[in-house]
Amino acid sequence: MCGLLRAPMRCRGTISALSGTRPMNQPATVRWQPAIAHRPGPLYRAIAAALAEDIGNGTLPPGTRLPTHRDLAWDLKVTVGTITRAYQEAERQGLIGGEVGRGTFVRDPRRLVEPVVESGGGLLEMNLGLIDLSVNATALWPDAPALTAATQAVALRPDLVSLMSYQTPLGHHRLRAAIADWLADSADLHVAADQVLLAVGGQGAMLTALSAVTRPGDTLLVEQVTYPGLRAVALHLGLRLVPVAMDADGLLPDAVEQAARSHGAHALYCMPTLQNPTTITLSLERRRALVEVARRIGLMLIEDDVYGFLKQPSPPTLHSLGPDVTLYVSSLSKSLFPGLRTGFIVGPRPLFDRLATILRATVLAPAHLGTVVAAELIDSGEAGRIAQRRRCLVAERQSLARTILSGLDLSGSDPAVTHLWLPLPETVRRDELVRGALERGVKITAADGFGVGRGEVPNAVRICLMGVDHSAQLEKGLSVLDGLISNPVASASAWV
Ligand SMILES: Cc1ncc(COP(=O)(O)O)c(C=O)c1O
Repeated sequence: MCGLLRAPMRCRGTISALSGTRPMNQPATVRWQPAIAHRPGPLYRAIAAALAEDIGNGTLPPGTRLPTHRDLAWDLKVTVGTITRAYQEAERQGLIGGEVGRGTFVRDPRRLVEPVVESGGGLLEMNLGLIDLSVNATALWPDAPALTAATQAVALRPDLVSLMSYQTPLGHHRLRAAIADWLADSADLHVAADQVLLAVGGQGAMLTALSAVTRPGDTLLVEQVTYPGLRAVALHLGLRLVPVAMDADGLLPDAVEQAARSHGAHALYCMPTLQNPTTITLSLERRRALVEVARRIGLMLIEDDVYGFLKQPSPPTLHSLGPDVTLYVSSLSKSLFPGLRTGFIVGPRPLFDRLATILRATVLAPAHLGTVVAAELIDSGEAGRIAQRRRCLVAERQSLARTILSGLDLSGSDPAVTHLWLPLPETVRRDELVRGALERGVKITAADGFGVGRGEVPNAVRICLMGVDHSAQLEKGLSVLDGLISNPVASASAWV
């Protein structure tokens, strides 16, 4: 059920408006009473911590003009120097900023990390003013209080230091047990903790799994349009990618068998649930057929399930249907936080030594801190609530998108996932639409971005719905796209 899910109540400061005259177009200064009595350590730190907390919990929204050093010092009965140090500390953390002659303002914490795009040379560029609907990032801010609470709980764990010592390359047993619980809850995948290997994100899990079952020069089968991150892994490992035909219901098991035989392939990478980019979920029948093909011809299935938690009830994973022929890879990047870098692999036991050797050679041991926070979220039940909030947010944004794009055929795009896969009318060229949109400040991705080699791709685009903070931005971006699609001449190039 999608309802309003409230963050846990925490100790908040209070604010009230200060009376008096102020220049036009300037926000009012607030009178802020921070809750500092319970905080240990030096006073300035307590005030800075209270500022951080009240900015995080919304008591002090972005743009708020804070009291002057002198006024706050008077209110709190401390020296002006203490307030100056507190504000300096908060400024160092990027929470507030001073403007000469105007005062001290709360910055927008969401903007502390500027949105970035990767350019060809790996350089990062600012994406200022762009409505970026090209990245399948998830809105994380509604879950900031849960992350803060979990991180604080982790800091107090009596076993924290032991969790931070060198572990086996497979990861600490307690954390693997938490992931096993998560898989049971979110993917209906029931495995023992010692069947779970920790990896650095889904990307690390893909790299490790593919390294275990391929050698440079091998052929890897993939869906006709696939996740671009997989292409990067394949390039790195020296694999040759062969796209396999799909229809409206996804990957065709017969085509897999044929391609494997004619190219001598021993591995297939696929996303059976909410495929990126097509959003297709394979039917049970096709899943069974794929497992049968894999067993018959000796094919290892690399099943990527990062979006699987969004599809409820969960369809059976390929791993649960064919644990002997499936390496299941996933992460908590979409369901919780990408910065946790918590990825994992569940695979057939005979491959474990090989997987462990690769993990030892590449990362030595998992980066546990992120996974300890993830385990805290899972064990406390918070991860399940976050996942549910994500599903609700996806449902809201999908419904908004479908209202704005109501004239277009979105019947083949599953509303459970974070993006739209939009087949374009014949009159609209995907390259022109992408270019025309970019000229108007909206970024989307053409099907070509998901193609493999010279393989054919449909005349379609992917539109990500969750990467922008506010639905108003999404509405604006989608309206631009709608306008361009209904008037394709507007985005056409090369007139003369
Ligand atoms: C299908 C798929 N697999 C894997 C990943 C990588 O996830 P992670 O951030 O955990 O490395 C992504 C990220 O977008 C993805 O879409």
